[in-house]
Amino acid sequence: MDRVIFKLENVDFEYEGDIIGVSNINLEIEKGDTVAILGPNGSGKSTLLKILDGLYPPKKGKLYAFDEEISQKRLRDKAFNKFFRRNIALLFQDADVQLFCPTVEDEIAFGLRQLGLSQKVIEEKVERVMSSLNIQALRGRYPYSLSGGEKKKVAIASILSLDSEVYLLDEPTANLDPQTEGILIDQVLSLQEQGKTLIIATQDMLLAEHVAYHVLLMDQNKKAIAFGSKESIFSNLDLFYKLGLLHGHQAIHEFTQSYIHSHRTLQAS
Ligand SMILES: Nc1ncnc2c1ncn2[C@@H]1O[C@H](COP(=O)(O)OP(=O)(O)O)[C@@H](O)[C@H]1O
Ligand SMILES: [Mg+2]
Repeated sequence: MDRVIFKLENVDFEYEGDIIGVSNINLEIEKGDTVAILGPNGSGKSTLLKILDGLYPPKKGKLYAFDEEISQKRLRDKAFNKFFRRNIALLFQDADVQLFCPTVEDEIAFGLRQLGLSQKVIEEKVERVMSSLNIQALRGRYPYSLSGGEKKKVAIASILSLDSEVYLLDEPTANLDPQTEGILIDQVLSLQEQGKTLIIATQDMLLAEHVAYHVLLMDQNKKAIAFGSKESIFSNLDLFYKLGLLHGHQAIHEFTQSYIHSHRTLQAS
C-alpha cells in the first residue's frame, strides 16, 4: 500500500435542498497518521468522515483511497467493496445508527462474523475487547436500552476488534465518563503503535492534544481552513477562539491552559 491513504481534490458535498455539507476540501492523509478534525458544530466534520468512508459520494471533485479513485461505480465492484470495507472502520457520531443487534455480544461479534473468522477466534476477540472497555456486565443487554455513554462504549468495542487499516472516529469521547475516555485514549495509542491510520472528528481539545499528529481545522463555511502538525496548529490559539473551539469563559480558559501546560511538562519528563 502506498504512503498516502486518502487524497481529496476540490471535494464538495451537498445534502438535499442545496445544503452544503463540505466545501472545496483538498487534503492528503498519510498511512500511520493520526489526524484530529476540529471545528464548530455544523462545520462538516461528520460529513467529511462519511465521504472518506465512501458513504457520501462527492458532488464535485475527486476522492482517492488506497491508490484508487473512489467512485460509486468502483464501490459497486464486489471485490473492491469488500477490500474497502475491510480496511476502513467508521464510528458514527450517533451510536444509535451503529447498533442494531439484539445483544451487546452479538453487536461486537457482528463485524467479526462478516470477516469470516472462526467462532473460537470471534469469542476470544469479543471477550478481549469487552474486558478492555469494561463492558462485560452489558453482554446480554439489548443495545437500544443502554445509556448514551454505554451505547458509545459498545459502538467503540464493535469497531475496535475489527483490525482495520483506517479508523474514522466521529466524536469518540462524547458521552464518555473521564475514566472511559482514558481507556479510549489508551486504545487509540495502541492502534497508533500498530501503524494504523486514525482520523478523529472531535470537540475534545484534550483528546486532540493527547493523540493527534496533525490537525485539520474546519470553519462555519464547511471549509478546511488549516492543516498542519498539531504543534503548528495549536500554536495559534487565537484561531481556536475565533472558531469557538475554546471556551470563552475565563475560568475554563485558565484550566485548559494549565492542563495543556502540565500535560506537555509530563510528556517532556
Ligand atoms: N442529513 C442531513 N441533511 C441535511 N443537512 C445536513 C445533514 N447532515 C448534516 N447536514 C448539514 O451539513 C452541515 C455539516 O454538518 P456535519 O458534517 O454534521 O457537521 P459537524 O459534524 O461538524 O457538526 C451542517 O450545516 C448540517 O446542518
Ligand atoms: Mg458531527
